[in-house]
Amino acid sequence: MRILVTGGSGYIGSHTTLQLIAAGHEVVIADNFSRSKPSVLGRLEALAGTAIKYHVVDLTDRAATDRLFAQGAFDAVVHFAGLKAVGESVAQPLEYYSNNLGSTLSLLAAMRAHGVAKLVFSSSATVYGEDAPVPMQESFPTSATNPYGWTKVMQEQILRDVAAADPNIRIALLRYFNPVGSHASGTIGEDPHGVPNNLMPLLAQIAVGRRDALQLYGQDYPTPDGTARRDYLHVEDLAAGHVAALDRLGETAEPVSTWNLGTGTPTSVLEMVSAFAEASGREIPTVDAPRRPGDIADSYADPAKARTELGWVAARSIHDMCADTWRWQSQNPDGFPDE
Ligand code: WQD
Repeated sequence: MRILVTGGSGYIGSHTTLQLIAAGHEVVIADNFSRSKPSVLGRLEALAGTAIKYHVVDLTDRAATDRLFAQGAFDAVVHFAGLKAVGESVAQPLEYYSNNLGSTLSLLAAMRAHGVAKLVFSSSATVYGEDAPVPMQESFPTSATNPYGWTKVMQEQILRDVAAADPNIRIALLRYFNPVGSHASGTIGEDPHGVPNNLMPLLAQIAVGRRDALQLYGQDYPTPDGTARRDYLHVEDLAAGHVAALDRLGETAEPVSTWNLGTGTPTSVLEMVSAFAEASGREIPTVDAPRRPGDIADSYADPAKARTELGWVAARSIHDMCADTWRWQSQNPDGFPDE
């Protein structure tokens, strides 16, 4: 199929683009490079062994998005484009709502105008909110405690309502747990814009000498070692989940399908610190710090639905996640070049 991948030069979008091409699809990337660099594209083409068409477009611009579809002849869309930093969303709610909701509404209008009926949406376990029991199941209610999380809850609702009104549309809502790791080549990986918020890029930047120590946010959680636990999954497993979901949309009669993409196994912060130290051979100093507002003790998936309906299982280990991240970071200490 000919697939439009929005945000395709981003961390998860780039890894998914490679796997879509490897699965025989043709990929066109749409990105505004607000949180990524064009230099990713050359690396992607080298890894894919083929040229990859891309368009620089602000998806909140309805006319530009419509023009993209008018010439695109797309069979499906995988929608990653969006702002995703929790803290930033609290400081800049208007930017988050107008960008994340605006781009999805504009995309849906263009899909309808041009008869594109398949959409895979990048959602997040953040929609389970702060009080969900673990392991989290797709049937749980959704809520949020920050504007970023609310944009995911709202986008899921918009997509469910659009699907209810159009019998031809097929939508997959993929709820990511904690994506980490890099392509085994080490030539693409996570390259956060500005100061990283997430644990794994921080560990990588400490190991490569860009940062001194990890602030350990809370050591008094009700967990075996007192630090919070998350369901880290390798970005390559996550990308494979998108390929499987896209295939499934061609067969299912369900207008909207929701799948957790996680391993189902919780790992604590301290376990990740030692796994990264072991994989990189570098010391990772830590400094005890208070809990980060909004953090929960435990977040991990019940991955059974994706396993039975998609035949998808996250196979790669915590060691793989750390070793692959380290290969990327040690080969690219400053991330992607500016051009
Ligand atoms: C993981 C653990 C921190 C940094 C977030 C978003 C979620 C999704 C993934 C987009 C937590 C601890 C972290 C540090 C620390 N993003 N930590 N010191 O918070 O589970 O999820 O990223 O979809 O929506 O909420 O991931 O990597 O930020 O934190 O101790 O300097 O590492 O407290 O326990 P999180 P994270």
